[in-house]
Amino acid sequence: MVISFSCSASRKLTGILALLFMMTRVYGQSTSGFISIDCGNRRTNKDSTTGIQYHSDHRFVDGGLSHKISTEFMDDAANEQQKTLRSFPQGSRNCYTLLSATGKKFLVRAMFTYGNYDGLNSTMSGSVFRFGLHIGVNVWEAVNLTNWDPSSTIWKEVLTVAPGNNLLVCLINFGTGTPFMSSLELRPLQDVMYPFVNSSVSISYFRRIRFGQATEFITRYPLDPYDRFWEGWSFSYNTYPWMTLNTSSPVRRLPGDNTFQVPEGILQQASTLDTNYSFFEINVAVGPNLDPTNLQLLPIFHFAEVVDNNPNRSFNIYSGDEMLFPDFSPSRSQVDSMHQNGRFLHNPAASFLLNKTNNSVLPPLINAFELYSLVRMDNLTTDSKDVKYMKEVKKHYSVARINWNGDPCSPREYSWEGLTCDYSKSNPNPRIVAVNLSTSGLKGGLTILFMNMVSLETLDLSHNNLTGGIPEYEMKSMKVFDLSYNQLDGPIPHSILQRYQAGLLDLRLEGNPICSKFKDTYCSNKKKSTTPIMLIAVIVPVVLVSLLVVMGTLWKLYWKGKSGDDKEYAMYEEEETPLHIDIRRFTYAELKFITNDFQSIIGEGGFGIVYHGTLENGDEVAVKVLKETSISESTDFLPEVQTLSKVHHKNLVTLQGYCQNKKCLALVYDFMPRGNLKQLLKGGDDYSLTWEQRLHIALDAAQGLEYLHKACTPSIVHRDVKTPNILLDKNMVGVISDFGLSRAFNDAHTHISTVAAGTLGYLDPEYHATFQLTVKTDVYSFGIVLLEIITGQSPVVMDPQAVHLPNWVRQKIANGSIHDVADKKLLDLYDATSLQSVVDLAMNCLENAAINRPTMTEVASRLKVWLPAVSGTPRHTDSMDTEIPRQFRLMISRARNEGISFQSGYTNGISQTSLFSGR
Ligand SMILES: *[C@@H]1O[C@H](CO)[C@@H](O)[C@H](O)[C@H]1NC(C)=O
Ligand SMILES: *[C@@H]1O[C@H](CO)[C@@H](O)[C@H](O)[C@H]1NC(C)=O
Ligand SMILES: *[C@@H]1O[C@H](CO)[C@@H](O)[C@H](O)[C@H]1NC(C)=O
Ligand SMILES: *[C@@H]1O[C@H](CO)[C@@H](O)[C@H](O)[C@H]1NC(C)=O
Ligand SMILES: *[C@@H]1O[C@H](CO)[C@@H](O)[C@H](O)[C@H]1NC(C)=O
Ligand SMILES: *[C@@H]1O[C@H](CO)[C@@H](O)[C@H](O)[C@H]1NC(C)=O
Ligand SMILES: *[C@@H]1O[C@H](CO)[C@@H](O)[C@H](O)[C@H]1NC(C)=O
Repeated sequence: MVISFSCSASRKLTGILALLFMMTRVYGQSTSGFISIDCGNRRTNKDSTTGIQYHSDHRFVDGGLSHKISTEFMDDAANEQQKTLRSFPQGSRNCYTLLSATGKKFLVRAMFTYGNYDGLNSTMSGSVFRFGLHIGVNVWEAVNLTNWDPSSTIWKEVLTVAPGNNLLVCLINFGTGTPFMSSLELRPLQDVMYPFVNSSVSISYFRRIRFGQATEFITRYPLDPYDRFWEGWSFSYNTYPWMTLNTSSPVRRLPGDNTFQVPEGILQQASTLDTNYSFFEINVAVGPNLDPTNLQLLPIFHFAEVVDNNPNRSFNIYSGDEMLFPDFSPSRSQVDSMHQNGRFLHNPAASFLLNKTNNSVLPPLINAFELYSLVRMDNLTTDSKDVKYMKEVKKHYSVARINWNGDPCSPREYSWEGLTCDYSKSNPNPRIVAVNLSTSGLKGGLTILFMNMVSLETLDLSHNNLTGGIPEYEMKSMKVFDLSYNQLDGPIPHSILQRYQAGLLDLRLEGNPICSKFKDTYCSNKKKSTTPIMLIAVIVPVVLVSLLVVMGTLWKLYWKGKSGDDKEYAMYEEEETPLHIDIRRFTYAELKFITNDFQSIIGEGGFGIVYHGTLENGDEVAVKVLKETSISESTDFLPEVQTLSKVHHKNLVTLQGYCQNKKCLALVYDFMPRGNLKQLLKGGDDYSLTWEQRLHIALDAAQGLEYLHKACTPSIVHRDVKTPNILLDKNMVGVISDFGLSRAFNDAHTHISTVAAGTLGYLDPEYHATFQLTVKTDVYSFGIVLLEIITGQSPVVMDPQAVHLPNWVRQKIANGSIHDVADKKLLDLYDATSLQSVVDLAMNCLENAAINRPTMTEVASRLKVWLPAVSGTPRHTDSMDTEIPRQFRLMISRARNEGISFQSGYTNGISQTSLFSGR
């Protein structure tokens, strides 16, 4: 494997080789399809022995530094290519990209001559000098140059099938010396060759030997049109009892046998033993750095009888102790290539024995031998279209991220920073689902390249310097589109607005000039949530009323026999129709006053914006103003207000008043200063809810729902129970808000609704299937809330592909213990029994069949068991404000960072060939 090109034998041979080449060269084997790269050289050079042109590597690689080997080793260099190299001090993975063709077979060879280019004596410094090689997205080999003569040249070769139109060769920095490469060659093979090499199996060169009397140290192109390297055996072992044989008559292949295409010039030569000897062993010592237990070897023996007059020769072929081929007789002037149908062998010593049979007169003979090790190609490349568009994006914005190199998603530990990939088995190849290029110094227009990536769901381009307009995109999968804090101007295309208004797209545009013209919610900052001071409005989406409206409408139809939409709308056009409810009715001017001219936005959603306000008596309120566009659709508004005004419970948000006229449709609620449960669970660097706080909030929410289900007549089904709708007052008491989708029923058990509603991840599967809406729909959603409280995860966990939280919890518990599901932020500070019970309770709420789920009353009483001291005492602890948890957590994350480990491939190290022979 490792050949010192600087040894005297090889240097003398260069001249001979050159001569030989000149002679054979005349017949001109085609080099078409060869890619030959001289790393670190700016010029093209023609190799003096093969006549192959080697090109500068600048078109094939990004980054790296070019170097020359030290002058003292220049004269010893085997060829021009070894005199220069490219080193990669930056980045953990750097890749050369070679053009190939999908499904085609190639030989790829990389060569490494250190030559003390950096003056650091790195190979001889006494410390480890070792880096890795990947072929595409799979581990190929490691290059171990520890304790090597700096003038040595090492080469690595792999036979592989291109997974796409590019073939990547990557250098991996293990942290033990700067990776570098001197030359890189790609040679196309025919599809029929090496048939065991396929898209999931590659083979790495271990040894390739030609026997007989070779005139050159390495035989390659043009004698071998595929430019395989064949080491001459006679340069190592040409002493007695070895004998060389040769023939000048042709050695043929059976018609149609194109599997290996060993050059005839090689097959015309063979090695055998003096007839006094009966066996020889080829022992390719694996060296200290190979892990023999995992080594899988594939030997190929090439035989052709070169003695003319009917020789009597037969032998057995062993791999280690295993007989591979008994009683084999080579055919005369015809090649037999022996392998076991591509079977890989376990042969830790890598020793092969050829043993004369009892009947044989002559000892064994051999012409050529190849030995490969298995390289599994299990990791798949990213979807080729995603790769193409990501590369164009990288180029378009000149993204200079050091690890944006090689395949974007694969292998996982080298995936590009800022990308989220979906590795689920539902895709044949990994797909890019999220791109985060926030604060990346992007300039210029917004490219539509992203929109070609059909799996992309989240695109964050915030805090850049993007200018111009937003192009008309056809968005297929996009769910979050964050363009905040750029220089974007111009109209928002219809296609995007539509998706936004349909609630399918979370669009963020605040901090752009465009927002001086548009005042919609996408222009207001809603990403304040990280500060604990952030106050969340208790807003009940006005939309909620829809069901009540349906009921109201039905009611009217019943009484009036008919009722047109016009009449419904007319209701809103009359400025002064008072509602017969005893809550305060605000005028627009009053709202303007209490919100200080709508200055402080505390929340927003598809329905409208929520502002902070202060009443005359100093009470803080949240004012939810329905979007103008939504007003015309909100025929449900009044009945909803009526219902809400009657709902009074400490765990349900209180409606203080409303505003209703042509100009304004708004609801005024108590202000909830501690935000919502989702934010609190997400936490910050400096606080996290304790287990006890979590249980209290769960119980609060359960009691709020119990009240809606049981105490109200008709029962009210909230329909949108989720952590963002559970708000916390200043004492950390949980309060349910957002009755936007809620429905009241005289019969609390069933109702047929044609509108699917709720939030993804919280939807009751039974309701989804049957549209049978019952109070148990809320129980299901509450089960998800409980799991979020326990795990701190979202209803859909990216791990790494999307998993519904209940399944994630089941998997974790099945593969480990209950502790694996507990939120890490709890720092193991919880009572395991109560954790187990709450998990059980959550799972119970999540039963597929509604009938098997508990009622909210049962849920509340089961939760109470774990909180015997439920009382009116304030639960707000200082943990959110203290310094201690912060330090603790920082310490932990630092420890985690240290845990980075590097994968390593194996190294062949020194291969030595030794021989034993005996009588
Ligand atoms: C490298 O080795 C040479 C010869 O052994 C020595 O003269 C030189 O000082 C070494 N350089 C460094 C940087 O260690
Ligand atoms: C495939 O990727 C995994 C994880 O990224 C890695 O551990 C493994 O070594 C890779 N397999 C191969 C054959 O490269
Ligand atoms: C590749 O070859 C191996 C055996 O050499 C076989 O098990 C595997 O199924 C093949 N894979 C493909 C994709 O053809
Ligand atoms: C081929 O073998 C003959 C003897 O059989 C020998 O004289 C000749 O030198 C050999 N040629 C080579 C190239 O080894
Ligand atoms: C690298 O090679 C050195 C010298 O041959 C050897 O001692 C060492 O074990 C090898 N390291 C690995 C990881 O293979
Ligand atoms: C070689 O073959 C003979 C008989 O064919 C057998 O008895 C002997 O054990 C073999 N030697 C080895 C080293 O396998
Ligand atoms: C953004 O672009 C504008 C106009 O090209 C330029 O004046 C400004 O300095 C840029 N800002 C940043 C942060 O690059």
